[in-house]
Parts: sequence; C-alpha cells; structure tokens
Amino acid sequence: MTDKIIIRRPDDWHVHLRDGPMLSQIVNFTAKQFKRAIIMPNLTPPVITAEKGMKYRESILKSVDPSLGFTPLMVCYLTDDIDKDEVRIGYNEGIFTAAKLYPANATTNSSMGVTDVRNIYPTLELMQKIGMPLLLHGEVTQKHVDIFDREAIFIDEVLKSLIKDFPSLKIVFEHISTSEAADFVFESNNNIAATITPHHLELNRNAIFEGGIRPHNYCLPIVKREKHRVALRKAAVSGSSKFFLGTDSAPHSKDAKESACGCAGLFNAPFAMEAYAKIFDEENSLDKLEAFSSEFGPQFYGLPLNEEKVMLERTNTAVPAEIDIMNKTIVPFHSGNNIPWKFSRL
Ligand code: NCD
Ligand code: ZN
Repeated sequence: MTDKIIIRRPDDWHVHLRDGPMLSQIVNFTAKQFKRAIIMPNLTPPVITAEKGMKYRESILKSVDPSLGFTPLMVCYLTDDIDKDEVRIGYNEGIFTAAKLYPANATTNSSMGVTDVRNIYPTLELMQKIGMPLLLHGEVTQKHVDIFDREAIFIDEVLKSLIKDFPSLKIVFEHISTSEAADFVFESNNNIAATITPHHLELNRNAIFEGGIRPHNYCLPIVKREKHRVALRKAAVSGSSKFFLGTDSAPHSKDAKESACGCAGLFNAPFAMEAYAKIFDEENSLDKLEAFSSEFGPQFYGLPLNEEKVMLERTNTAVPAEIDIMNKTIVPFHSGNNIPWKFSRL
C-alpha cells in the first residue's frame, strides 16, 4: 500500500477567487496548494476587457502571500458583443490565457453570457487563429430541458457543431459531470480536453437530498446519477492526457447557500489535493495523480511543468465544519469530516 507520494506541485485549471474583501483570504487557500490557477472571470461586472483582466490580476497578486509563489492566469468573459480586439490585445499582451463561454444564465453571474454561440463566431475565429483556448461551461439553458440533462444536450446541440466549425480551436470542456461528456472528450481530437472537480468525483445526486435538502452539495453543473460519477472516476484515472484537474472551487457564504434560493458552488480549495488523493487512492490509481494534477494541464495549455514538489501522506486531515473569512462563514467541501490524506509542500 502506498502511504506517501511526492509529485510536482499541481495547478488548478478552474477556480473562482471572487473579488472585494473576500479575495484577500480566498486566494491563499488556492495558492497554498497550487502554483498556478485559471481564474474565472464571473465577477460583477465580469472581466470583459484587457484592462479589467490586468486590474483583477493585480488585486490577486496584492492579496496573495508572496512566499507561496502563486501565478494567477486570467480569463476573458465572453459576451454577445465582446470586442474581439480586447481578446486579441489581452492575449497578445500576456494578460489573458484563455476566454470563457458562459451560456447566458447558465450559472452564477452569467447573465451577461452568450445567448447564441454564433454571436461570437468572429471572436472564436480569432482565438482559433492565435491559439487561445476556449473554456466552456457546457450546459444548455432552455427552461424545458431537465437540469440533469443540460450537459448531454449541450454536446449535441452546441459542442458538436462548434468543433466542426472550428476544428483547430483548443477547447476545455470544464467541470464535466456526465458519462456523455467523458465519452465525447475521449472520442474527440486532441484539441478537446476536460477538467474534473473533486466533488463530481465524490458525490452523486443523492448527496443533494440526503435526509433533507443539502444546499452545500449544490453546484452547477449539478452532480448526477451514480453511473456518471463512476464514468468520471474512470476518465480521471485513465491516464488520458485529455482529463486534468480543475477544482471549480466556488465559495459562497453560508447564508447565501442556506437560503430559499441558495447559490450554486462548492468551496473545496482548502483541501483540494487531499480530496483528489482520496479518490485516486480509492481507485488504486495514486500513480496517475501526478499527471492529472501537474502535467496534462500545462501540456494542453503549452506551459512549462512546475519544478517544485509537494507531498501527500496517508494521514487524516480534519476538515473544519466552517471556515470564517472576513465577516462571513463558509462551509467547505467535506465539512466536519476527515480526509485520509494530508498535503504538504516540500
Ligand atoms: C460557480 C460560481 O459560484 O461562480 N458555481 C458553481 O456551481 N460551479 C459558477 C460555475 O462555475 O458554474
Ligand atoms: Zn466554475
């Protein structure tokens, strides 16, 4: 039995750090474990210009503990009338690493998202040309579509034609939650990759209703049936370079989640690597954790691998029931439980 592994320091290819007072503490949870992270741009108002991207990066760098050596990778939020020059300038000047497509109203702070993907075809054309990755929240939003089917239908109604029209556009299908998405990515060309969160690997949809409504297990895409969780685990430990780490850590205050209309999002950043190690261990695949966490992401983005090392040991980590951040309380993923792995930096 493996009790200890030493791996390259990982990166998080999808995280929400928020802004305002919360940012100053939230960022350090991510920076303690990860060297780099793709920072989601769904602020209010969202990050739609290169200048806003630069300012947001500055405030992250001002907030983060410098000894952690953390690099935020910024993302442009695409809107129906996005100025493609902003995308081009932001990418060429090294401000933006990627651009994010939120279908309008698909999730938290997405009301300015894209109503029809054809509206941004000129920007996608440009991104394909300059090699800038497109990050996808892959869910349709029509009211008649069941919330559990939104990702699978997105593949058929949006993603297939997008790939046909932009065959060399690099696409990250983010936080995949279904066997359909995993299969689709396996079968696609190498320009298509996916991130997988710890909670989609850990929970099935019973977790949202266990003995009563469980708002802290509510996120988007919503966690699905057991067969999907099993398929995602298979993809994560498959050793395929198309699947890599993206926590989708998305903190909301306890009040905002425990409400008549609770916000979507799980806060998993404080113990993210412990949560992934638990899953890879359960799948007898600890030998695959390093590539998933620290190699396939940078390879897809064309970035160097991190040289620093981190350690995971088979030792219990007690996850607090609640974490106080500024004047707010946040309930973390695995709240009040032990995770049988412990993370440390070397
Ligand atoms: C995210 C958030 O709160 O910003 N919520 C979530 O449930 N994942 C938005 C997102 O990534 O969909
Ligand atoms: Zn997200």
